Amino acid sequence: MKNCLICNKPVEAFMSFGKMPIANGFLAKDQFSEEYFFEMKVASCTHCGMFQLIEQPDREKMFNENYAFFSGTSKSMALHYKEFAEYVGSNFLSPNDPFVVEIGSNDGIMLQNFDAAGVRHLGIEPSENVAKVATDKGIQTVCGFFDEELARQIMTEHGQADAFLGANVMCHIPYIHSVVEGIKILLKPKGIVLLEDPYLGDVIENTIYDQIYDEHVFLFSVSSIKYLFELHDMVLVDIEPQETHGGSMRYVIAHKGVRPISDSVKKQLDKEKMMGLDNPETYETFRRNCEGSRDSLVSLLNNIRQQGKRVVGYAATSKSTTIINYCGITADHIEFISDTTPVKQGKFSPGAHVPVRAYEAFVDNYPEYALLFAYNHAKEIMVKEQKFMKSGGKWITYVPEVKVLG
Ligand code: TYD
Repeated sequence: MKNCLICNKPVEAFMSFGKMPIANGFLAKDQFSEEYFFEMKVASCTHCGMFQLIEQPDREKMFNENYAFFSGTSKSMALHYKEFAEYVGSNFLSPNDPFVVEIGSNDGIMLQNFDAAGVRHLGIEPSENVAKVATDKGIQTVCGFFDEELARQIMTEHGQADAFLGANVMCHIPYIHSVVEGIKILLKPKGIVLLEDPYLGDVIENTIYDQIYDEHVFLFSVSSIKYLFELHDMVLVDIEPQETHGGSMRYVIAHKGVRPISDSVKKQLDKEKMMGLDNPETYETFRRNCEGSRDSLVSLLNNIRQQGKRVVGYAATSKSTTIINYCGITADHIEFISDTTPVKQGKFSPGAHVPVRAYEAFVDNYPEYALLFAYNHAKEIMVKEQKFMKSGGKWITYVPEVKVLG
């Protein structure tokens, strides 16, 4: 029996996705024999409501000098972070020498906007290769894992922050209490914390089970984030649903007693009760929905292959690792996965070892079907792939349900 990473009460898994590799662990043939696997089991704590992995690989296995995820690969995400930075800039920065801190700042996709506006900033990014891309662009970046100790060092060197940002990073960190303490130390008395992460409500409602992978040790809800920050005397003052990653939530947090709490927090808490996020039966249903989605996708792929038609995976996303390995998809189902990230190309997908090829391999010889692993970028991709669709190409998606489009 494991204990909850938030409230320390015992938690029990309601489902296992089976053996999983490192989601961003794209590898060469000579690394197959030493590939790392763990059993991916998930639980929802019946005491504090935090949805979590029972076991997570060591952080150095996931975030290191070979990290394969670069935020800058999506145009729509670049626009999203630009708007995010503008929102922070126009609402939360003090007129005198404002300071913005971001954790998991990746290649600087968010902070570059503050840099362009001449705002003092600091990114904290543990993956060395990704941090280097940011520093090469002139974005102030520390390569390391943020926690209470690092927060103290930053405060001594740079002072406290007006705004503390984290996009798709808080849900990665199992020692989150130390991170929240660090945020508390580093934040000015009237400062603001803005976090964005995939939203549990959307995952449950639309069976977006591919948001569950090694890096995502948590899937947050409004209720679990509120609980977590209250343990540290901080307050969730506002929320705003986001379309990113198939459904995310922006959490606005402040020191206690500094800002009023918006009605939207209460409304979303009520909605979460209606959805049954605190009810174990909801997770039983979710498990059945995952199994149903898996079975439909596999039978669709088998049918297409029996007809002798070609299927190519579109975008070797982190989350595709869960889909591919949980569904048992192999290179017999999908010929290869095309991806625009140079470090993934020429390698093989984690676990199932489907070849990853450059985007040009897709364009040069359109398949009959493309399995859309980056469905969260569907709008951007549909605009870009008019020619594929005109050639008769069809899309396979599985969120919110398995479907063929086009
Ligand atoms: P994303 O959904 O951000 O991935 P993750 O599940 O890892 O969060 O998608 C990023 C990946 O998708 C990255 O490997 C690049 C690839 N990609 C393409 O290959 N083509 C595209 O048009 C887009 C938008 C992404």
